[in-house]
Amino acid sequence: MIQKKNNIGIIAFVLLAFLVTAPLYARNWKSPDDQKDKKSYLKFDATTASQGEALYNANCASCHGTPGKNNSLKSLNPIPPDLSTKASQQLTDGELLYIVTNGAGLMPSFKNILSEEKEWLIISYLRGFNKEYVQQLSKFDPAKSKLVKLTTTFDKASQSIIIQAIANEKTGVVAIAGAEVSLFVKRYFGNFQVDKSVKTDAMGKATIAFPTDIPGDKTGKLNVLVKMFEANYGEVQKTDSFDIGIPTDKPALNEKRAIWNVVSKAPLWVIGLYSMGLISFLMLLAYLLLNLRKIFKS
Ligand code: HEC
Repeated sequence: MIQKKNNIGIIAFVLLAFLVTAPLYARNWKSPDDQKDKKSYLKFDATTASQGEALYNANCASCHGTPGKNNSLKSLNPIPPDLSTKASQQLTDGELLYIVTNGAGLMPSFKNILSEEKEWLIISYLRGFNKEYVQQLSKFDPAKSKLVKLTTTFDKASQSIIIQAIANEKTGVVAIAGAEVSLFVKRYFGNFQVDKSVKTDAMGKATIAFPTDIPGDKTGKLNVLVKMFEANYGEVQKTDSFDIGIPTDKPALNEKRAIWNVVSKAPLWVIGLYSMGLISFLMLLAYLLLNLRKIFKS
């Protein structure tokens, strides 16, 4: 009888342990094969690791905790893994880059927040927790990205932005074909992507349709950011501005009377309420003093 009870206890314990730890091992993302083998063009060393640590603390630690301390945010499901553990370290550099760029489930995408270089810096920091890790560098030469010239023009007829990528090679100017280009509109809080990423053609050109309903500033000016990525030339960015938004005349945050503004521009009801409070207080004080005087006199 006692024996049986124990068995049930063990089964229940194992089941519970499984249920509790199962989310730890569930991985519901997979990087495409061509991303898996991608390698960093940055050589990982103490400097890149410490730059990566700062970026990790600012962007990742809130969920993943400090590597090696197993203090990730346990209220999420699946629980963000401690990235120093073997399970995560078994991922290739390309897989790590893939998930940071694209996200999965509750893991946010950092595509519009971190450049590829910054992502590699973070990965450099994470690899510092893996004694067995030996870096394989990509053959890509970052100096090549300096040769790239991006031009952006707005074509009114087709309401689209035409991007051309060329490289000033020693041998002459070459069009960069097959590069992935993305277009973003710059906003106060991050950038938002216009349409999908497209590939450049044989002329190094790509066309991205631009919506007609994006609010710009007073004159309709919009700041756009173009990102290009190509395996040999790496990632190149360029910002530009065009008068292609809807002119929007939003008053500045400190123009109107508002509760967050300076005293002279506080809402009238706040000033009224404050003054009334002050007057009542002073009147009460005067009343008390008068009565005190009466008491003394008597
Ligand atoms: C909002 C919380 C959150 C933030 C912020 C976050 N992550 Fe994650 N991350 C997760 C979750 C949840 C998972 C598990 C995803 C899954 O498997 O479904 C995950 C998974 C991962 C994985 C895969 C690990 C594995 O073993 O499968 C890596 C690598 C990773 N995150 C890196 C990062 C990096 C680097 C940053 C900062 C640039 C970051 N994460 C920011 C929540 C977050």
